[in-house]
Amino acid sequence: MNLEEKTIDALRTLYEENGYRRYKMSKFEEYDLYAKNKDLLVSEGIITFTDTNGKLMALKPDVTLSIIRNTREQKGKRNQVYYNESVYRISDTSKTYREIQQTGLECIGDVDDNAAAEVALLAAKSLCLISKDSLLCVSQPKIAAVFLTEAGLSGEAYEQALLLITSKNRHGLSTLLSENDCTAENAARVLALTGLSGDEETVFPVLEKLQTAQDLILPLKQVADRFREAGLSGMLRFDLSLECGTRYYSGIVFKGYLDGIPSAALSGGRYDALAHRMGKKCGAIGFAVYMDVLERLNGIQEVGTKPDVTEQSYLRIALPKGRLGEKVYAMFEKAGFECPEVLSDSRKLIFTNEEKKVRYFWVKPSDVAVYVERGAADIGVCGKDILMEYAPDVYELMDLKTGNCRMAVAAKKDFRDDLNRTLTVATKFGRIAADYYASLGRDIDIVHLNGSIELAPILGLSDVIVDIVETGTTLRENGLVEYETIAPISARLIANRASFAFMEEKVQRLYEGLKAQTDGE
Ligand code: PRP
Repeated sequence: MNLEEKTIDALRTLYEENGYRRYKMSKFEEYDLYAKNKDLLVSEGIITFTDTNGKLMALKPDVTLSIIRNTREQKGKRNQVYYNESVYRISDTSKTYREIQQTGLECIGDVDDNAAAEVALLAAKSLCLISKDSLLCVSQPKIAAVFLTEAGLSGEAYEQALLLITSKNRHGLSTLLSENDCTAENAARVLALTGLSGDEETVFPVLEKLQTAQDLILPLKQVADRFREAGLSGMLRFDLSLECGTRYYSGIVFKGYLDGIPSAALSGGRYDALAHRMGKKCGAIGFAVYMDVLERLNGIQEVGTKPDVTEQSYLRIALPKGRLGEKVYAMFEKAGFECPEVLSDSRKLIFTNEEKKVRYFWVKPSDVAVYVERGAADIGVCGKDILMEYAPDVYELMDLKTGNCRMAVAAKKDFRDDLNRTLTVATKFGRIAADYYASLGRDIDIVHLNGSIELAPILGLSDVIVDIVETGTTLRENGLVEYETIAPISARLIANRASFAFMEEKVQRLYEGLKAQTDGE
């Protein structure tokens, strides 16, 4: 048996011992089920086909919806099932369809906080079966929702704030809160919550101090109690910014990480509202283990053993090659994460300081986010332009307030926009340009170029350009003028989500060291 088969076998035993029975289902489902609940699905693309009766069918992108639909409510009882099925989704990173093997369980019916805590504990035990070096991060996204509402946010600003909390973007959130006239006290409360993570001793006193309603804290305390009784407190971590932007969950949520695996290996939470929406007046909670991430452990270890942690004890930092990278390295050095060899005049790309357990890579600036998102680096520094263009799934921890420039629209001096014509825009930043003009309701055609964008309007290739302007020299020397500023750009500190969970103490120390240098600028 390979690691995947052994894991599935061990999980099956765990779930059956805890009163769950096997649920087997077809790979297909009527498309209608997903069309009605599209806003709740994690992946946008659904593979559809027509059956022999002409009915539109789908390859399942999600297991939970089918299980809820087929659950019969019985007062005072719980339907406890586990499954091992394939789902079909578009990969967030490669944007291609993938068949993902999921093993998980659902507990639907008379679910209270205690039952929910039991399921969180089963999630933790599932992770332990795979690796001894695992963490379960637990949150209650309702707390962020309540704090934002109490701070007076609604509509688009409220939705935007939830996304900023989920990416731990305190600088962006702070700007948004002040733009929306939040009081200093309310803003401080939301910002404190965004940075709140750690064990129960760290998190609960802060939640109390922030005057969080007891009914929101209690489900988390139940989880802490259950883990303590089971002797698993060491792998429990609360993170109050987790999953704040999703609509799927309505109570506690959790994500499981395995050391050395750059993305979540398990995801779950309470979804009563989803069950209600599907006509079931009951509670519901469940989770799924993503078996595809185990492929990365295959051959590395046996089920339930510890992966090689020597490599994982280094903080791996991707720096953008060039002037900005050198400037930023100086900041890291000042923060106590020095590695003098980085500045040596060589063609080397990797540098390690054994004593500080820190490793730097020089990376092409536009690639930094890829290294961090995919976990080849734990943290990195990249321009806001790259984050806006590629929207990588990473934390945006800090505005380093260096590498300042702006994303702008520029054109020839005599350019006049004719609204009766489609506007031709040359750019490296297709998504930023498309989003900007969509917000203005302007019809555009994009010409993708890789550099020397300023040539395009001069040679008649486009009407305008969307590009980075720093000093304005390139525009001036080529007879172009800046028409609009789309967004200010600066260098940002980004982190891989799984690395942040495992290396929080180190990352936090770096954060404080860098913050001391950017504050007051
Ligand atoms: C960037 C940008 C502009 C220039 C702006 O180009 O695309 O061309 O810098 O700087 P300025 O306002 O100070 O003149 P980069 O040097 O990255 O090269 P590229 O032409 O390959 O994009």
